Amino acid sequence: MKILVVGSGGREHAVIRKLKENPEITSIICAPGNGGISADAVCASVKATDIEGMIALAKQEQVDFCVVTPDDPLALGMVDAMEKEGIPCFGPDAKAAVIEASKVFSKNLMKKYGIPTAAYEVFDDPAKAMEYIREQGTYPAVVKADGLALGKGVLIAQNEEEAQEALKELMIDKAFGASGNQVVVEEFMTGPEVSVLSFTDGNVICPMVSSMDHKRANDNDEGLNTGGMGTIAPSPFFTKEIADQCMKEIFLPTVNAMKAEGRPFKGCLYFGLMLTPQGPRVVEYNCRFGDPETQVVLPLLNTDLFTIMKACREGALADLAIEWKDEACACVIEASGGYPQSYKKGYPIHGLDADGCHEGVIVYHAGTKKDGDVYLTNGGRVLGIAALGRDLNEALDKAYAAVDEIGFENMHCRRDIGAKVRNLK
Ligand code: AMP
Ligand code: GLY
Repeated sequence: MKILVVGSGGREHAVIRKLKENPEITSIICAPGNGGISADAVCASVKATDIEGMIALAKQEQVDFCVVTPDDPLALGMVDAMEKEGIPCFGPDAKAAVIEASKVFSKNLMKKYGIPTAAYEVFDDPAKAMEYIREQGTYPAVVKADGLALGKGVLIAQNEEEAQEALKELMIDKAFGASGNQVVVEEFMTGPEVSVLSFTDGNVICPMVSSMDHKRANDNDEGLNTGGMGTIAPSPFFTKEIADQCMKEIFLPTVNAMKAEGRPFKGCLYFGLMLTPQGPRVVEYNCRFGDPETQVVLPLLNTDLFTIMKACREGALADLAIEWKDEACACVIEASGGYPQSYKKGYPIHGLDADGCHEGVIVYHAGTKKDGDVYLTNGGRVLGIAALGRDLNEALDKAYAAVDEIGFENMHCRRDIGAKVRNLK
């Protein structure tokens, strides 16, 4: 069995590592991949958004199955195009990927089907949006670009001036291009945030173990928003009771809503939730695995990932019992100093084993390249150092012990990943 994985981050590395546990998978190609991934897969230099190029690669390599992981190729219809060429894929088609690609679509979907989320209005005129924010008169006000914006399209305004600035940035200066043609202005919510990734075949939905990301660059949730500086799984906030409530009020209704809209979702559907005092609410949907959530969720999976992926595509999830380890996992991101703003690349990474791994922990490569036998930094987020433990404390201790041994010049990591939940049971 030959598999093609599209993408190049720590998330893709985690997917590949898990797929490799299946003895029937004899070869994995990753496009474009990265230095560290090249120890686990053959990397091919095709851009993740190059649909024609990816199809040509899949045909040339005669791959049996393709896993499309990042949001942009999914939104562009890579799965549609591959399937049309007879290449079976894991991932939603473009019609279903719109659940992430358009916030206006997802907010309207939630309203139509009564799925709990922040109250909102949609605007295509910045003056009207400002008028609405003034009328509401409550801050913080949340302003979101409709389209994909590298995770940076959500602006939280503390006052009128910041709201005006946010609308200007998204709608007039077009910081994220056409993504800002429309904006969603929504109510500010409070409470712990939980990520729930789920497998779905369009009918049946199987939530994975819950997780929690740390989005800000610095300790105590200070500094700029990043792609994610570390994760833990499971989230102690996501109790069995809340999980049951979410299944009833959010997860199943979403899958059913997408089916009713003629957009059945097959693949990994990511629920970004906030556990507000009024109950769980959807903050966002993603049409893909989260990064760095995947790095803590997949190590806890006992069932074969490829079998699950095939079942999602074939509508056969009901026949599978998906099993999880009764353990915890933590992942600390080692980033280049300066990230998420400007940073230097090309520093040698010390402390890695010859194959890029490390005894007792799982090192996921996000932004590395290989120069002979040496790994060099090659991105903002460089490594994800993950560890399993019997509980969160043990997982965090093991991950941080490895962080102390693996590093590079100007390395930046948060020292407080999981700190808020360390002693919660
Ligand atoms: P999103 O890209 O929609 O996940 O938003 C990025 C981050 O902004 C979320 O993870 C939240 O921390 C925050 N956020 C988004 N929407 C809201 C909201 N309505 N209330 C409070 N925080 C929010
Ligand atoms: N960790 C957040 C995301 O993948 O969107």
